[in-house]
Amino acid sequence: MGGILLQALLKNNLLSPELTCATVQHEERAKLLGRKLDVKVGTDNAAAVKGADIILIAVKPQIVQEVLREIRGQVTPGQLIVSVAASVPTSVMESCLPENIPVIRAMPNTPCSVGSGMTAMCKGKCADAGHLAITCQIFDVVGRTVVVDEKYMDAVTGLSASGPAYIYIILESLAEAGVKVGLPRDIATLLAAQTTLGAARVVLETGDHPALLKDAVTTPAGCTIDGIMELEEGKLRVTLIKAVVRATQRAKELAF
Ligand SMILES: NC(=O)c1ccc[n+]([C@@H]2O[C@H](COP(=O)([O-])OP(=O)(O)OC[C@H]3O[C@@H](n4cnc5c(N)ncnc54)[C@H](OP(=O)(O)O)[C@@H]3O)[C@@H](O)[C@H]2O)c1
Repeated sequence: MGGILLQALLKNNLLSPELTCATVQHEERAKLLGRKLDVKVGTDNAAAVKGADIILIAVKPQIVQEVLREIRGQVTPGQLIVSVAASVPTSVMESCLPENIPVIRAMPNTPCSVGSGMTAMCKGKCADAGHLAITCQIFDVVGRTVVVDEKYMDAVTGLSASGPAYIYIILESLAEAGVKVGLPRDIATLLAAQTTLGAARVVLETGDHPALLKDAVTTPAGCTIDGIMELEEGKLRVTLIKAVVRATQRAKELAF
């Protein structure tokens, strides 16, 4: 996720390569990424945060606290920490840092790589509206943003951060279905993906309830209602609901 964000922000000129410094765990990977992204990439977290305006934390939830303790000696209240780690509350991050360090917790998703991401975010107790605005500006470059209360962040993780994986499975299945009814695979995949994109845009642009939009596609005694009957029999709705519930529950456990 850190790599996706870094590449997207560099591509959109929100970061300048000369002023950007990234870290990873392994030296070899640092060298590889440094060449690929044309920015400084190292393994010394404390050195990397010195003098930075914004520090983006994108390590696994289990090691967020370890990394924050590594950098705590260098961090000052003039800097902003933005974490994209699932599951780690702002209060836990704040407890690893000196007093008065602004912390924002954000939850993006992988479509940020093509500018169609969805990022929800909330602020810690030392961050203010200005810090939230800066973070929104960053993530607006790679998609849509929404500010939420922190109590919703695990649900966001289960829905929009994990969501692309659910949609890819639905797309793969629709494409497979197209092949089953005789379409070439590339055409079936195009039809499935553009249909998904189109339906999503209609929901976003009209603000209409998805059930109403579904009804508009469903001609009495037509084809769609037969397809919908199969979806209902296969329990697609309840399966998707259960997927989000399980992922949300897991998001509550990850960091601990
Ligand atoms: N994947 C998603 O769709 C998604 C969406 C939203 C949020 N997130 C969050 O993003 C975070 C990263 O997830 P990911 O899927 O990108 O994991 P990942 O692919 O395993 O990447 C983790 C990165 O952290 C680096 N790292 C590990 N220990 C480090 C240390 N001590 N200091 C500096 N860098 C260190 C690793 O370096 P090496 O490359 O050298 O191993 C690796 O580049 C997680 O907290 C996750 O909850 C992910």
